[in-house]
Amino acid sequence: DDELEQQWFVGSIDQGTTSSRFIIFNGEGEPMGSHQIEFENLYPKSGWHEQDPMALLKSVEDCVEAAVKNFEEKGFDKSRIKSVGITNQRETAVVWDNVTGEPLYNAVVWPDTRTAPLVRELRKHSYAETLPEVCGLPLSTYPSSVKLRWLIDNVEPVKKAYEEGRLAFGTVDSWLIYRLNGGAKADPKPIHVTDSTNASRTMFMDIRTLKYSDELLNFFGIDKNKVHLPEIVPSSDPEVFGKLASGVLAGVPIAGCLGDQSSALVGQCGFKPGQAKNTYGTGCFLLYNVGTEPVISKSGLLATVAYDFGHGRKPVYALEGSIAVAGSGVKWLMTNLGFADESHKVTQLAGTVPNSGGVVFVTAFSGLFAPYWIDDAKGTVFGITQHTTKAHIARATLEATCFQTRAILNAMEKDSGRRLESLAVDGGLSNSDLTMQTQADVARVRVDRPAMRETTALGAAIAAGLATGVWAELEDLKNVNQNGRRIFRPEMSEQQAEKMFKRWEHAVEMSRGWVL
Ligand code: G3P
Repeated sequence: DDELEQQWFVGSIDQGTTSSRFIIFNGEGEPMGSHQIEFENLYPKSGWHEQDPMALLKSVEDCVEAAVKNFEEKGFDKSRIKSVGITNQRETAVVWDNVTGEPLYNAVVWPDTRTAPLVRELRKHSYAETLPEVCGLPLSTYPSSVKLRWLIDNVEPVKKAYEEGRLAFGTVDSWLIYRLNGGAKADPKPIHVTDSTNASRTMFMDIRTLKYSDELLNFFGIDKNKVHLPEIVPSSDPEVFGKLASGVLAGVPIAGCLGDQSSALVGQCGFKPGQAKNTYGTGCFLLYNVGTEPVISKSGLLATVAYDFGHGRKPVYALEGSIAVAGSGVKWLMTNLGFADESHKVTQLAGTVPNSGGVVFVTAFSGLFAPYWIDDAKGTVFGITQHTTKAHIARATLEATCFQTRAILNAMEKDSGRRLESLAVDGGLSNSDLTMQTQADVARVRVDRPAMRETTALGAAIAAGLATGVWAELEDLKNVNQNGRRIFRPEMSEQQAEKMFKRWEHAVEMSRGWVL
């Protein structure tokens, strides 16, 4: 018991696209208390995707309360929780009134495509071609910049706040940190910050200097004198993120912040150049550590900040392949088509047939992201016959993410000249053995799955723990999450994988050009 009392713990707020979690980790990176809450996603029009910022905040606060209770029930003492980290869905744009601290509109969520016409207009400017060189991202409906521009142009209270200099903007990390510190009334002053991994998803930040770029802000028509942008800070620091102002953990410092995909790379301990992870969450995101210089892709990938631990350490960059639909495809089969009431039953159903029976489902609900970037693609199912059952469609839905991962791996090989041999995986859909085997088969890659798959939450706990002395250096983490890993190796013939992938690519071409 004495030993238990001496241990330090770190809490992690994981605010994802469909649910929020709070997980309390010990120094070995093992979860010792947790709670998860799903909240409502709003789809008011085709292509629109919103969330209520207050509901996000409440889900986080409720998770903290319930997880601490769970932790205490196991006999642990909450005063041993040294600090808290935050990780979050990225790109989602939140706007609030800088005077009152209240939201001015629903959050516009990252897969939302209402900005497609705006993006088409912006593409006409010659500077659009230069954007990836400066900020790492190509122009699309995905980043926060176009979402903020749309909000200022189309939502009266947002426009008014902007004209009056009261508009505050942030991604979900900024919003949560601001409110958890007490919002507009925070003592001694409001905290409005973001870390460089989240800032690298806005298109407002120069990826090399990690500072806002006037050129980028001008391109999107954002006047920095009229909008309060969050200050960009490193991902791990005991001072800059403030502390929890209320609730069971009032007074505990927030000491780490990472966008969720960066956080998963950290949680997988992907600290060496050449290491990569793929997280099968709502969407699916492959991050490949490229070291301390960004690599600007020529093949449809993104350059992003992987993590930035400050204190004289250089920021580390990643090449990213972003897939908009993974778990959300399975969820859609359940909620919109009534396939099953739990996601594992969808994967079970997919396992009742030996293959998709020739069905290919291009799950382009938000157009297609990496490496294709086809804004006007729509979800399209090919190859249906009288033979087709729900099971084939379920299987084709899982395969869609695996094919896109293969396309991303091909693009990475082009950009880096190296073929990835091993892919660390995590996220909800990685629980499905069938999906992971399919991934190994169609992408001809070794899939390496840890036993503890809350790696996204673990990454932010690591960022916070590094800042507050729970771990001194990254080396202290080398044994974290190494036990019980399972490897999936390619079993399908190369020929067969090739044939399936060709069919997929053909389907991608045919999914283009749908204007609703
Ligand atoms: O870029 C969006 C991403 O950060 C969302 O992650 O896990 O909620 O799909 P997830």
